Amino acid sequence: MTGKTRRSVCIAIDGPAGAGKSTVAREVARTLGYTYIDTGAMYRALTYKALASGLDVGDAPAITSLARSLDISLKPDSNGSVRVFVDGIDVTREVRSPEVNMMVSPVAAIPEVRALMVEKQRAMATAGGVVMEGRDITTVVIPDAEVKVYLDASPEERARRRVRELRSSGYAVSVDETLEEIKNRDAIDSQRECSPLTKGEDAFVLDTTGMPVESVVAHVVGLARKAQEMRCTTT
Ligand code: DC
Repeated sequence: MTGKTRRSVCIAIDGPAGAGKSTVAREVARTLGYTYIDTGAMYRALTYKALASGLDVGDAPAITSLARSLDISLKPDSNGSVRVFVDGIDVTREVRSPEVNMMVSPVAAIPEVRALMVEKQRAMATAGGVVMEGRDITTVVIPDAEVKVYLDASPEERARRRVRELRSSGYAVSVDETLEEIKNRDAIDSQRECSPLTKGEDAFVLDTTGMPVESVVAHVVGLARKAQEMRCTTT
Protein backbone atom coordinates (compact mmCIF):
# COMPACT_ATOMS: atom_id res chain seq x y z
CA MET A 1 0.00 0.00 0.00
CA THR A 2 1.30 3.47 -0.76
CA GLY A 3 0.62 6.60 1.22
CA LYS A 4 2.01 9.98 2.01
CA THR A 5 3.88 10.71 5.21
CA ARG A 6 3.89 14.29 6.43
CA ARG A 7 7.39 15.30 7.45
CA SER A 8 7.98 17.49 10.48
CA VAL A 9 9.31 20.94 9.64
CA CYS A 10 10.90 23.77 11.63
CA ILE A 11 8.90 26.92 12.20
CA ALA A 12 10.93 30.02 13.12
CA ILE A 13 9.20 33.14 14.45
CA ASP A 14 10.87 36.49 15.18
CA GLY A 15 9.57 39.90 16.12
CA PRO A 16 9.78 42.65 18.74
CA ALA A 17 8.59 42.43 22.36
CA GLY A 18 4.83 42.02 22.68
CA ALA A 19 4.17 41.17 19.01
CA GLY A 20 2.31 38.04 20.15
CA LYS A 21 5.09 35.57 19.34
CA SER A 22 4.67 33.43 22.49
CA THR A 23 0.90 33.08 22.24
CA VAL A 24 1.03 32.35 18.52
CA ALA A 25 3.98 29.95 18.72
CA ARG A 26 2.37 28.04 21.60
CA GLU A 27 -0.94 27.65 19.75
CA VAL A 28 0.71 26.69 16.46
CA ALA A 29 2.77 24.05 18.29
CA ARG A 30 -0.35 22.71 20.00
CA THR A 31 -2.26 22.50 16.72
CA LEU A 32 0.54 20.66 14.91
CA GLY A 33 1.70 18.54 17.86
CA TYR A 34 5.11 20.25 17.73
CA THR A 35 7.41 21.38 20.55
CA TYR A 36 7.24 25.06 21.46
CA ILE A 37 10.59 26.68 22.27
CA ASP A 38 10.62 30.14 23.86
CA THR A 39 14.23 31.30 23.41
CA GLY A 40 13.60 34.62 25.20
CA ALA A 41 12.98 32.58 28.36
CA MET A 42 16.58 31.34 28.17
CA TYR A 43 17.97 34.91 28.18
CA ARG A 44 15.49 35.78 30.91
CA ALA A 45 16.57 32.83 33.07
CA LEU A 46 20.20 33.95 32.84
CA THR A 47 19.24 37.55 33.67
CA TYR A 48 17.18 36.43 36.65
CA LYS A 49 20.09 34.40 38.02
CA ALA A 50 22.56 37.25 37.41
CA LEU A 51 20.35 39.69 39.34
CA ALA A 52 19.71 37.17 42.14
CA SER A 53 23.50 36.66 42.43
CA GLY A 54 24.12 40.42 42.65
CA LEU A 55 26.06 40.56 39.37
CA ASP A 56 26.33 43.74 37.33
CA VAL A 57 24.63 43.03 33.98
CA GLY A 58 27.28 45.20 32.30
CA ASP A 59 30.03 42.83 33.46
CA ALA A 60 30.17 40.67 30.31
CA PRO A 61 32.89 38.24 31.50
CA ALA A 62 31.00 37.54 34.76
CA ILE A 63 27.68 37.07 32.95
CA THR A 64 29.30 34.81 30.35
CA SER A 65 30.91 32.66 33.01
CA LEU A 66 27.54 32.40 34.80
CA ALA A 67 25.91 31.40 31.48
CA ARG A 68 28.49 28.61 31.05
CA SER A 69 27.84 27.22 34.52
CA LEU A 70 24.03 27.31 34.51
CA ASP A 71 21.72 24.49 33.58
CA ILE A 72 18.76 26.23 31.92
CA SER A 73 15.93 23.98 30.79
CA LEU A 74 12.50 24.51 29.27
CA LYS A 75 9.82 21.93 30.00
CA PRO A 76 6.33 21.83 28.53
CA ASP A 77 3.49 21.91 31.06
CA SER A 78 0.00 20.46 30.78
CA ASN A 79 -1.58 23.57 29.19
CA GLY A 80 1.00 23.86 26.39
CA SER A 81 3.03 26.57 28.12
CA VAL A 82 6.67 26.26 29.00
CA ARG A 83 8.12 26.11 32.51
CA VAL A 84 11.58 27.54 32.98
CA PHE A 85 14.11 25.87 35.27
CA VAL A 86 17.51 27.11 36.41
CA ASP A 87 19.65 24.41 38.00
CA GLY A 88 16.47 22.42 38.62
CA ILE A 89 14.55 25.28 40.29
CA ASP A 90 11.31 26.48 38.71
CA VAL A 91 11.69 30.23 37.95
CA THR A 92 8.81 30.55 35.45
CA ARG A 93 7.18 33.44 37.30
CA GLU A 94 10.41 35.19 38.31
CA VAL A 95 11.71 35.45 34.73
CA ARG A 96 8.69 37.65 33.83
CA SER A 97 9.30 40.22 36.58
CA PRO A 98 9.63 43.93 35.70
CA GLU A 99 13.28 43.83 36.96
CA VAL A 100 14.14 41.07 34.48
CA ASN A 101 12.20 42.91 31.73
CA MET A 102 14.43 45.94 32.30
CA MET A 103 17.76 44.10 32.38
CA VAL A 104 17.35 41.29 29.86
CA SER A 105 18.24 43.23 26.70
CA PRO A 106 21.78 44.19 27.80
CA VAL A 107 22.37 40.57 28.87
CA ALA A 108 21.12 39.28 25.50
CA ALA A 109 23.44 41.73 23.71
CA ILE A 110 26.62 40.00 25.02
CA PRO A 111 28.09 38.11 22.01
CA GLU A 112 29.57 35.24 24.09
CA VAL A 113 26.20 34.71 25.78
CA ARG A 114 24.48 34.61 22.40
CA ALA A 115 26.97 32.07 21.05
CA LEU A 116 26.20 29.73 23.97
CA MET A 117 22.44 30.12 23.64
CA VAL A 118 22.43 29.73 19.85
CA GLU A 119 24.35 26.46 20.13
CA LYS A 120 21.77 25.07 22.59
CA GLN A 121 18.87 26.29 20.44
CA ARG A 122 20.26 24.72 17.25
CA ALA A 123 20.62 21.41 19.08
CA MET A 124 16.93 21.61 20.09
CA ALA A 125 15.87 22.17 16.46
CA THR A 126 17.85 19.39 14.77
CA ALA A 127 15.07 16.81 14.86
CA GLY A 128 12.46 19.22 13.38
CA GLY A 129 8.89 19.44 14.68
CA VAL A 130 9.59 22.66 16.59
CA VAL A 131 8.10 26.12 16.75
CA MET A 132 10.92 28.34 17.96
CA GLU A 133 10.44 32.03 18.66
CA GLY A 134 12.80 34.88 19.50
CA ARG A 135 14.73 37.68 17.77
CA ASP A 136 17.33 35.88 15.63
CA ILE A 137 15.67 32.55 14.91
CA THR A 138 14.90 33.18 11.22
CA THR A 139 18.23 34.92 10.60
CA VAL A 140 20.84 33.14 12.75
CA VAL A 141 19.59 30.13 14.72
CA ILE A 142 17.71 28.22 11.99
CA PRO A 143 17.91 30.29 8.79
CA ASP A 144 17.09 27.14 6.82
CA ALA A 145 13.76 26.63 8.67
CA GLU A 146 10.98 25.65 6.25
CA VAL A 147 8.65 28.33 7.68
CA LYS A 148 9.96 31.76 8.69
CA VAL A 149 7.65 34.43 10.06
CA TYR A 150 8.24 37.96 11.34
CA LEU A 151 5.40 39.08 13.63
CA ASP A 152 4.95 42.80 14.24
CA ALA A 153 2.42 45.19 15.82
CA SER A 154 2.36 48.87 16.74
CA PRO A 155 4.31 49.78 19.92
CA GLU A 156 1.07 50.95 21.59
CA GLU A 157 -0.70 47.66 20.93
CA ARG A 158 2.34 45.70 22.08
CA ALA A 159 2.47 47.73 25.32
CA ARG A 160 -1.24 47.07 25.97
CA ARG A 161 -0.70 43.33 25.47
CA ARG A 162 2.31 43.30 27.83
CA VAL A 163 0.34 45.21 30.50
CA ARG A 164 -2.50 42.67 30.31
CA GLU A 165 0.01 39.82 30.64
CA LEU A 166 1.87 41.42 33.57
CA ARG A 167 -1.30 42.42 35.42
CA SER A 168 -2.70 38.91 35.09
CA SER A 169 0.49 37.72 36.83
CA GLY A 170 -0.11 40.19 39.66
CA TYR A 171 2.35 42.96 38.67
CA ALA A 172 1.00 46.54 38.96
CA VAL A 173 2.29 48.32 35.84
CA SER A 174 1.05 51.26 33.76
CA VAL A 175 0.67 51.39 29.97
CA ASP A 176 2.94 54.45 29.76
CA GLU A 177 5.87 52.93 31.63
CA THR A 178 5.47 49.64 29.74
CA LEU A 179 5.44 51.51 26.40
CA GLU A 180 8.65 53.29 27.41
CA GLU A 181 10.26 50.00 28.44
CA ILE A 182 9.19 48.30 25.18
CA LYS A 183 10.63 51.13 23.06
CA ASN A 184 13.86 50.96 25.03
CA ARG A 185 14.09 47.20 24.55
CA ASP A 186 13.28 47.47 20.82
CA ALA A 187 16.13 49.97 20.45
CA ILE A 188 18.69 47.74 22.21
CA ASP A 189 17.48 44.52 20.51
CA SER A 190 17.54 45.99 17.01
CA GLN A 191 20.68 48.13 17.32
CA ARG A 192 23.01 45.70 19.06
CA GLU A 193 26.04 44.57 17.08
CA CYS A 194 25.62 40.84 17.47
CA SER A 195 22.65 39.33 15.58
CA PRO A 196 20.22 42.25 16.03
CA LEU A 197 16.49 41.87 15.53
CA THR A 198 15.87 42.33 11.78
CA LYS A 199 13.26 41.25 9.26
CA GLY A 200 14.98 38.42 7.40
CA GLU A 201 14.71 38.87 3.62
CA ASP A 202 12.70 35.71 3.09
CA ALA A 203 10.57 35.85 6.26
CA PHE A 204 6.80 36.20 5.90
CA VAL A 205 5.93 39.53 7.60
CA LEU A 206 2.63 39.67 9.47
CA ASP A 207 1.43 42.88 11.19
CA THR A 208 -0.88 41.63 13.95
CA THR A 209 -2.18 45.06 15.05
CA GLY A 210 -5.92 44.62 15.57
CA MET A 211 -5.78 41.04 14.32
CA PRO A 212 -7.40 38.32 16.45
CA VAL A 213 -4.87 35.78 17.65
CA GLU A 214 -6.83 32.91 16.04
CA SER A 215 -6.34 34.47 12.59
CA VAL A 216 -2.61 34.82 13.12
CA VAL A 217 -2.38 31.20 14.30
CA ALA A 218 -4.44 29.97 11.33
CA HIS A 219 -2.14 31.83 8.98
CA VAL A 220 1.05 30.32 10.39
CA VAL A 221 -0.50 26.83 10.55
CA GLY A 222 -1.45 27.26 6.86
CA LEU A 223 2.17 28.08 5.97
CA ALA A 224 3.36 25.07 7.98
CA ARG A 225 0.93 22.69 6.27
CA LYS A 226 2.11 23.86 2.86
CA ALA A 227 5.72 23.31 3.92
CA GLN A 228 4.82 19.84 5.24
CA GLU A 229 3.18 18.98 1.91
CA MET A 230 6.29 20.03 0.04
CA ARG A 231 8.39 17.75 2.23
CA CYS A 232 5.90 14.89 1.91
CA THR A 233 7.41 11.51 1.20
CA THR A 234 5.52 8.89 -0.76
CA THR A 235 5.83 5.43 0.78
O1 DC B 1 10.79 37.50 23.84
P1 DC B 1 11.18 38.01 25.23
O2 DC B 1 10.60 39.35 25.58
O3 DC B 1 10.93 37.01 26.29
O4 DC B 1 12.77 38.20 25.13
C1 DC B 1 13.53 38.65 26.21
C2 DC B 1 14.77 39.37 25.72
O5 DC B 1 15.69 38.43 25.16
C3 DC B 1 14.55 40.45 24.67
O6 DC B 1 14.98 41.70 25.14
C4 DC B 1 15.38 40.06 23.50
C5 DC B 1 16.19 38.89 23.93
N1 DC B 1 16.14 37.79 22.97
C6 DC B 1 17.14 37.73 22.04
O7 DC B 1 17.99 38.61 21.98
N2 DC B 1 17.18 36.69 21.16
C7 DC B 1 16.25 35.73 21.20
N3 DC B 1 16.32 34.70 20.34
C8 DC B 1 15.19 35.79 22.14
C9 DC B 1 15.15 36.86 23.00
